[in-house]
Amino acid sequence: MKILMVCLGNICRSPIAEGVMQHIVREQGLDWQIDSAGTNNYHTGESPHRSSQKVCRQYGIDISHQRARQFRSSDFDTYDHILVMAADVYDDVSRLAPSETALQKVHFFLDSLSPGKQASVPDPWYGDESGYAPVFDLIQRGCNAWLTFFTGNTPIFNRS
Ligand code: 4NP
Repeated sequence: MKILMVCLGNICRSPIAEGVMQHIVREQGLDWQIDSAGTNNYHTGESPHRSSQKVCRQYGIDISHQRARQFRSSDFDTYDHILVMAADVYDDVSRLAPSETALQKVHFFLDSLSPGKQASVPDPWYGDESGYAPVFDLIQRGCNAWLTFFTGNTPIFNRS
């Protein structure tokens, strides 16, 4: 299984989702590929935001090696599922979908917790560092729910 997490800048939300989901699938012994990308190229080549790195590190997840890259239409060929963090991201990603089959690979990340609600993960970029812990918590719960959705297994990882 190949899963791509997508947000705007690929430095705050989707790097956390990539790191957490990789951690979960590794704990499960699954050989899945988990990556992330951003719809814009403002931060291409950059490391995740220091507050994203910090909150992940607090829970034993190192995301310092990640580098931001822009989402591209060929990602529809590479990945089985494309999980988007927000409505604006959904719009930009789906505009690049080459077919109806490709479009069906795109899901709102939070639909694993609230199916069909198309809710957005709040973007901590626009606030101070205190915004990152609740976002991590939400993403961690969302990733656990995706693992259960895809496999039927209850994930082991829990921050508490
Ligand atoms: P992200 O947050 O999409 O979660 O990585 C953002 C990071 C940077 C910008 C916007 C959102 N920006 O406009 O530079």
